[in-house]
Amino acid sequence: MGEYVLKSDDFLVSQTDEKGIILFANDDFCKIAGYTLEELVGKNHNIVRHPDMPKAAFKDLWRTVQRGEVWTGYVKNKTKDGGYYWVFATVYPMKDPATKKTLYMSCRRKPSEAEIEAAEKLYKTLD
Ligand SMILES: Cc1cc2nc3c(=O)[nH]c(=O)nc-3n(C[C@H](O)[C@H](O)[C@H](O)COP(=O)(O)O)c2cc1C
Repeated sequence: MGEYVLKSDDFLVSQTDEKGIILFANDDFCKIAGYTLEELVGKNHNIVRHPDMPKAAFKDLWRTVQRGEVWTGYVKNKTKDGGYYWVFATVYPMKDPATKKTLYMSCRRKPSEAEIEAAEKLYKTLD
């Protein structure tokens, strides 16, 4: 419970289909979110959504990647046990080489304390 502050070498990766259903998550993602890979695969990515996150952030994320562009932003995520962790995420669209279907990938690293404070402030002003 409480905040998990990322270590500077934590690197959380997840991959979804075009609807945001999780296809893959790496070890750092599973460990920090508190789930096994089996628990995550097939679930909607909003399984880690924290209620403090404004809808507008995810609207912007989806609009950006669906246009084929890269989205970056700060995200507060919920852990399985009710704690939370902040990440700086880079989300980008890609094509599955085998099926040619669109997939999305997110890579996340530790944000600075100042970046977290600024994001907290901004998100309080958004719906
Ligand atoms: C590749 C990818 C990674 C995502 N990662 C997260 C994440 O770490 N946390 C999160 O709350 N939403 C993430 N989302 C956004 C979710 O799909 C979803 O839009 C968001 O959790 C809001 O949930 P809702 O659409 O049910 O309101 C991600 C989406 C994509 C495409």
